[in-house]
Amino acid sequence: RQQLSTAWSHPRMNTDDATADLQALHQRYRGLREGRVAGYIPELAKADPEAFAIAMVGVDGRVVQVGDSEARFTLQSMSKPLAYGLALQQLGREAVHRKVGVEPTGEAFNSIVELEEEVHRPYNPMINSGAITIAALLHEAAPGQAATRLMHMVQAYLGRPVTADEPTLRSELATGHRNRAIAHLLHHYGVIGPDIQAVLQLYSLQCSLQVGTLDLALVAATLAHRGVQPLTGRQVLAPALVRDMLSLMFTCGMYDTAGEWAYTVGLPAKSGVSGGILAVVPGRMGLAVYSPRLDAHGHSVRGMAVLKALAAQWRLSLF
Ligand code: DON
Repeated sequence: RQQLSTAWSHPRMNTDDATADLQALHQRYRGLREGRVAGYIPELAKADPEAFAIAMVGVDGRVVQVGDSEARFTLQSMSKPLAYGLALQQLGREAVHRKVGVEPTGEAFNSIVELEEEVHRPYNPMINSGAITIAALLHEAAPGQAATRLMHMVQAYLGRPVTADEPTLRSELATGHRNRAIAHLLHHYGVIGPDIQAVLQLYSLQCSLQVGTLDLALVAATLAHRGVQPLTGRQVLAPALVRDMLSLMFTCGMYDTAGEWAYTVGLPAKSGVSGGILAVVPGRMGLAVYSPRLDAHGHSVRGMAVLKALAAQWRLSLF
């Protein structure tokens, strides 16, 4: 009983109730057709705009999935907190935050403006400039091994092997001129070393890892469970590092809508331009939605709608 009432938000909530609620939300928002599939990377534009899946994993390992559970997509920016956690583990907080700050920006995820400010340091690890700096730290700490270490870390969250979607990886590398510009600016200001190609390769690899909605919910549930993957029982990351990740997901995970997200949903979250959003209910569960049509900020429209509704219905806000 104790476990039931802490793991699931509502005292009488069981798996059947949760499934019914998620099915009702899927039904309610299936007709929502606002937004556009990301088009700035050709491979992303090929996603099925109608795909729609919701998943949740309790810290006790219970799994609920509705909709297109078989849909596969790429991790994109949802890899950023995971790479940040790995950097904390390998280099320590101090070394990481000498290079990257912990402040939210009011700018878009791929903004370049803050690099031109007085202190040439990316605001936080959740935006592209910060994530590229994290990739550089990982690369510089272990040249030639960073990709393997990152994949191992992601695999520990998912509890299964993971591979990159090669066409997306090629597409990201071939068209990522903005990220290239960011990396060059970072190098110009001495934030990262000269190995720009290797850094962009690593960053693009983490964005291109292929996942499903359940995988996102497993990542979120592991973070909800202080770093213990609920199905494998493995401690993926130390609780103190998980706390750092969640703090930054809370304040910076939704980019220039992080404030509104904190106000309306009240949970640490991370979105990606493939159309996934994962949200963490600490001590209780991980939630994930996949639907590729995005709003102007790069967040899944249905994903936002479902998580807002669910947070209200199940009273999930931390406050
Ligand atoms: O850096 C990029 O352009 C992408 N591959 C990842 C960006 C992303 O997912 C932003 N999120 N909303």
